[in-house]
Amino acid sequence: MTNEWCGWREATERALYGPDDGFYTRPGGPGPAGHFRTSVHVSPLYAGAVATLLCRVDTALGRPDELALVDVGAGRGELLTGVLAALPDEVAARLRPCAVERAARPPGLDARIEWRGELPAPGSVTGLLFANEWLDNVPVDVVETDADGVARRVLVRADGTERLGEPVDGADAEWLSRWWATSGAGDAAAGPALDADAAKGTAQDAGATRGQAPDADALGAPAPTTPGLRAEIGRPRDEAWAEAVRTLRAGLAVTADYAHERGDRPLFGTLTGFRDGREVAPVPDGSCDITAHVALDACAGPSARRLTQRAALRALGVDGRRPPLALAVTDPSRYVRALSGAGAAAELTDPAGLGGFGWLLEPVGEACAGLLRAVDAG
Ligand SMILES: C[S@@+](CC[C@H](N)C(=O)[O-])C[C@H]1O[C@@H](n2cnc3c(N)ncnc32)[C@H](O)[C@@H]1O
Repeated sequence: MTNEWCGWREATERALYGPDDGFYTRPGGPGPAGHFRTSVHVSPLYAGAVATLLCRVDTALGRPDELALVDVGAGRGELLTGVLAALPDEVAARLRPCAVERAARPPGLDARIEWRGELPAPGSVTGLLFANEWLDNVPVDVVETDADGVARRVLVRADGTERLGEPVDGADAEWLSRWWATSGAGDAAAGPALDADAAKGTAQDAGATRGQAPDADALGAPAPTTPGLRAEIGRPRDEAWAEAVRTLRAGLAVTADYAHERGDRPLFGTLTGFRDGREVAPVPDGSCDITAHVALDACAGPSARRLTQRAALRALGVDGRRPPLALAVTDPSRYVRALSGAGAAAELTDPAGLGGFGWLLEPVGEACAGLLRAVDAG
């Protein structure tokens, strides 16, 4: 790993996906589950909900002879493995499960699962494309406002030292002005105000799941030329998501991630690191995950719909309510199982945690367009 100055996008690309020493691609590495918990790791209920969604897609598509489930950013294939276990035999028999993942195929994975490093060809997939906590790991550049309030690209070295580079321009400046108005590259007056002390006080706690955002309510009133405001340029994620959606001939594309909205972007951005279950400073040397919240509203295509994970999972039958106490008397072991399921469901749907994540649903073709209403209605 060199220690030369470059933008965060290039530095993150090397740090996470370098062929020999990338955080995710290092041969023999533990994979995401070795460093943090995603919804997939929290409980098999999550894979069960994706299986339910897949069955709805299958029905909407008229039960095709071959039904695809493409998992983008598949980690070690845990979600596909869980969905295969949860599906009715008749659907599993027609399923073509496919992992798209930059890391190598893990040993011992179910032989039915295809493993590939790139997305399938455009228009080649009929079924469900699902991406859990993928886009937050698509590398992005970071900008920071200088003393005059001008947004400049942040340059970084592999040891994490930063300095400001050139003013941001072109398509990146346009993206910032459209999607992140507090960045100094657009109409800064339209954005929220800055109370630096309050905002710094919201630094994220170490935790096993990623995605706790700074508390927007703690941020105070601003000035458009305030130095030190930061933003992440989400353009590479918009493009990555659009490319993923284009792989569908017919069906539904879903991505789930920690997200923020145009009117509510954090004043100092969200770039951070994770290692061994703890939040750490983002140092692009391959020793830690590097991640930032996703501007899901910017990724959304014209037919897309956004829900919270809580709403989506509830519509798919994941419910955190406790089982009735009477069950403890009539069937104690079923009661204990139901209680533990309710605990996991509560974690997956907690509005202050995983339940607050955004789901972006994008139907391709007519068949799954009505599915959005079906998901809403449960
Ligand atoms: C945070 S992990 C999520 C793993 C899994 N989806 C889960 O929820 O547990 C992100 C994964 O996305 C993979 N990834 C990132 N960019 C990718 C790309 N362009 N194509 C395929 N995989 C990618 C990384 O290698 C990593 O395994």
